[in-house]
Amino acid sequence: MSATLSVPSPADFHVHLRQGSLSQLVTPHVRKGGFNLAYVMPNLKPPITSTDQALEYKTELQKIDPRVEYLMTLYLSPGLTPDEIRKAKKAGIVGVKSYPRGVTTNSDGGIESYELYYPIFEAMQDVDMVLNLHGEIPSDPATNVHVLNAEPHFLPHLASIHKEFPRLRIVLEHATTRAAIEAVKACGPTVACTITAHHLSLTVDDWAGQSWNYCKPVAKFPDDRAALQEVIKEGHPRFFLGSDSAPHPPHIKSTSTPTQGCAAGIYTSPILLPLVAHQLESFGALNNIDGFTSLFGRSFYGLPVDGLPTVTIERTTSKVLESYTLDGAAVVPFWSGKEIGWEIVR
Ligand code: NCD
Ligand code: DOR
Ligand code: ZN
Ligand code: ZN
Repeated sequence: MSATLSVPSPADFHVHLRQGSLSQLVTPHVRKGGFNLAYVMPNLKPPITSTDQALEYKTELQKIDPRVEYLMTLYLSPGLTPDEIRKAKKAGIVGVKSYPRGVTTNSDGGIESYELYYPIFEAMQDVDMVLNLHGEIPSDPATNVHVLNAEPHFLPHLASIHKEFPRLRIVLEHATTRAAIEAVKACGPTVACTITAHHLSLTVDDWAGQSWNYCKPVAKFPDDRAALQEVIKEGHPRFFLGSDSAPHPPHIKSTSTPTQGCAAGIYTSPILLPLVAHQLESFGALNNIDGFTSLFGRSFYGLPVDGLPTVTIERTTSKVLESYTLDGAAVVPFWSGKEIGWEIVR
């Protein structure tokens, strides 16, 4: 394999760009990590629930870094109406993200029952907006639902929504289990799936007692990780990269108290393209990097795939920085201090 690799306009189809000083720090890292497109998650405080808020947020992001194309999303919540969906579509908003209540960062306003939202899904199907699913159900000791089976237990919801709305484009976000990969494969061409860079390397053992590797959904078993790797190696066009890069201030990542766990989220934006190349190479899938990091996602979202500018990476060994800082804000990247086999050259 040669010493350089040129990837057509890398696109991150799931990223958290936050707000305030953290946003100032992390938004330029999309481009730093080699990416030209960011599909932006809406779980701010307060969440992005209206077209006007999403457009305002997009303007802020463009001010911070105008080089990146931002695709915006709304947060699915009871206030959303079919009229607002039509307004959002006209305004260029691409998707709606559904978070189950209480499952992850800022998801207290999330959903309880999917049927409640069928009128919204109907309108989304009509105007062709994408439904982005956080595929977990809340933990419940009474029914033995917990972080390790929350995703498999969600999958029947994916199947029912797809059955009810076969033309609705749906993305199962950040899949972590073999069961999820199989469930998405079993759906028709309107259902796709994102996979993060970190879930290609982590398993349960890596986050048990290691708060920096803790995210939702949690990394699962070695056989699950193998399923994520295999579907990329297979070059399946409905599986593509969404980093779920989710920065938190270091003090809430690194500490927990008897009543409050550490924050869930792994930060990969500034090293993303080298990291993905490194991971794909480790399991023999580097030849599929164009599809996985750009073309498959762009095709699913109906974006152009021809004549894209390229980003070039070069084989090297460089150390991932310990942290990134700006005006008092700080973030610690995944693989901090570790060696990575590629770097961006242009
Ligand atoms: C399964 C469960 O809880 O549903 N466990 C798990 O996913 N870790 C049961 C099992 O596999 O025994
Ligand atoms: O680990 C996670 N962090 N998972 C999510 O779904 C949300 C994210 C965040 O916003 O921090
Ligand atoms: Zn999510
Ligand atoms: Zn996310």
